[in-house]
Amino acid sequence: MLRTHTCGELRNEHAGTTATLGGWVDRVRDHKGVIFIDLRDRYGRTQVVVGPESPAATLAAAKRVRPEWVVLARGVVSRRPEGTLNPKLPTGGIELLCEALDVQSEAETPVFQPGATELPGEDIRLAHRWLDLRRPAMQENLLLRHRIVKLMRDYFDEQGFVEVETPMLGRSTPEGARDYLVPSRLAHGSFYALPQSPQLYKQILMMAGFDRYVQVARCFRDEDLRADRQPEFTQLDLEMSFVEADDVMAVIDGLVARTAKAILGIDVATPLPRLSWDEAMERFGHDAPDLRFGLEIIDCSAIAAESSFRVFRSAVEAGGRVRGIRVPGVAEKFSRKDLDDLTNVAVEAGAKGLVWLKLDAAGSLAGPVAKNLADGVGERLVDRLAAAPGDLLLIVADSFDVTCKALHTLRKRLGAALGLYDPRTMHFSWVIDFPMFAKDSETGGWASMHHPFTAPRPQDIERLESDPAGCRAVAYDLVINGSEAGGGTIRIHDSRVQERVFSLLGISPEVAKERFGFLLDALRSGAPPHGGIALGIDRWVMLMANLDSIRDVIAFPKTQSASDLMTGAPGAVDPKQLVELGIRIAAPPKASG
Ligand code: AMO
Ligand code: AMP
Repeated sequence: MLRTHTCGELRNEHAGTTATLGGWVDRVRDHKGVIFIDLRDRYGRTQVVVGPESPAATLAAAKRVRPEWVVLARGVVSRRPEGTLNPKLPTGGIELLCEALDVQSEAETPVFQPGATELPGEDIRLAHRWLDLRRPAMQENLLLRHRIVKLMRDYFDEQGFVEVETPMLGRSTPEGARDYLVPSRLAHGSFYALPQSPQLYKQILMMAGFDRYVQVARCFRDEDLRADRQPEFTQLDLEMSFVEADDVMAVIDGLVARTAKAILGIDVATPLPRLSWDEAMERFGHDAPDLRFGLEIIDCSAIAAESSFRVFRSAVEAGGRVRGIRVPGVAEKFSRKDLDDLTNVAVEAGAKGLVWLKLDAAGSLAGPVAKNLADGVGERLVDRLAAAPGDLLLIVADSFDVTCKALHTLRKRLGAALGLYDPRTMHFSWVIDFPMFAKDSETGGWASMHHPFTAPRPQDIERLESDPAGCRAVAYDLVINGSEAGGGTIRIHDSRVQERVFSLLGISPEVAKERFGFLLDALRSGAPPHGGIALGIDRWVMLMANLDSIRDVIAFPKTQSASDLMTGAPGAVDPKQLVELGIRIAAPPKASG
């Protein structure tokens, strides 16, 4: 070993011993000929002191070193003189009186200083990720990730799960996103698809008798990216045989409780609370509601239907809904501009407008449409929304979907802006009984809400064809603080039901045979009842670390436009490679004008 200790290790009890540290120069200060070097590695920082009494070569080296140079420093550990102790640093009681300073590597002036408190823009951090990953905060994030993944692996190992690796080069596994394709060199015109998830492989493993499968699995989805979405991400993927939804959820409840205790030191009561999808949409307007605060949505359609206010009545007559939320005690606080901003939020979420009403101390309503709410409609709304003087009421009239979207967005915005919850609290819950199908906005046909292998509730099997919209799936999503942190389902294990679902989704028997023939064959070869779930590991770590972006818990993430700013991927390839693959690039469309 070139070093005897790390930069986070030395304490008072080491005083008088000789130690060699290796690390990056965090900071150099020259105090009248005494040079202080803060040496940093992933374990911490230690002060190295070079003074006039140090050997001349050491002094000369110390005068040369600059931030981010890598050095080995040998010296005697010494208690810091009274008055120079640094209680903020675990090593702040000692310093290393340097005898030899050995420069291992010089560094060009870094684009930014990992030790600085002010951060450059994220593009610069991503392009120079080696510097960014030297930052203690990033190192903590990746260490946390390591601990969480290890905890998960240990937990599932204890419960008899077997980790099995599944291929990266495979056939498309539909999870609702676009595939990343890999061209075949040996069969021109044929492509592998990178897995959107190991879904079909893990089901096959159940049919193969593996009973309890788990995998830390990389998934690839070519979709629009956001703060909590990456084109490649990691799942804790599992599947179990001879189970019902309750069994899978119980396993995850146990994992949540253990993780919360070990990582955050908090006790989480299990079983975790459950909400049906219908209730989640009705009360919160979203299938992953943030339950750390109230501001629940209240339906006012019945009152609105009898109102003479055109906006309200016509929405109900068109089969839509009029729903609202009560924001307690902010009527005075919210200016006209604040309310215009909220209206814009609602409009951006798809609403045609936003009705806002303030209830004043005298119990009368104020707002641009207050005068339209005659004949007791205003009073009935106040009553229905349980409003008190000083409250603000926000109401949207539209289709159910639009009211959900707009009010969910407003609710989220207000919950954060008004500080309605402590950002350190963690709330875990399940949303269950999702619809089997949703209308595909592009084709107008039915699409799976989860994936095509999800089982309908037994009581819904007979009305699959007659009432697809009414069928509910045996599906469960884990929600942490309003974020979808995992999702799973019980699967179809009867090939005939699977064929019916394919057909409903507009997948013809021929296409089903071509794409999923192996699954149908396996289902006909003796298939146990089975189900599972996948947890978004990146999101779990982000939430446990109380961060806003999964990019901060991924060592080498991609940008919004799916590029890697460090390596430059995706990039051009050697034309020879394209020839080998039988690929010719269509000329890019000419810029017009
Ligand atoms: P699902 O598609 O719900 O289910 O994915 C499971 C979980 O993975 C996380 N996740 C993502 N994280 C980061 N970036 C993304 N682009 C991304 N997409 C999804 C979410 C999500 O809850 N095969 C099924 C699971 C099953 O049925 O067992 C599946 O993949 O946290
Ligand atoms: P308008 O009649 O379109 O001028 O709208 C009158 C008021 O109702 C304005 O304050 C709009 O913001 C609001 N409004 C219009 N449409 C809706 C709607 N669908 N839901 C809620 N408020 C609306």
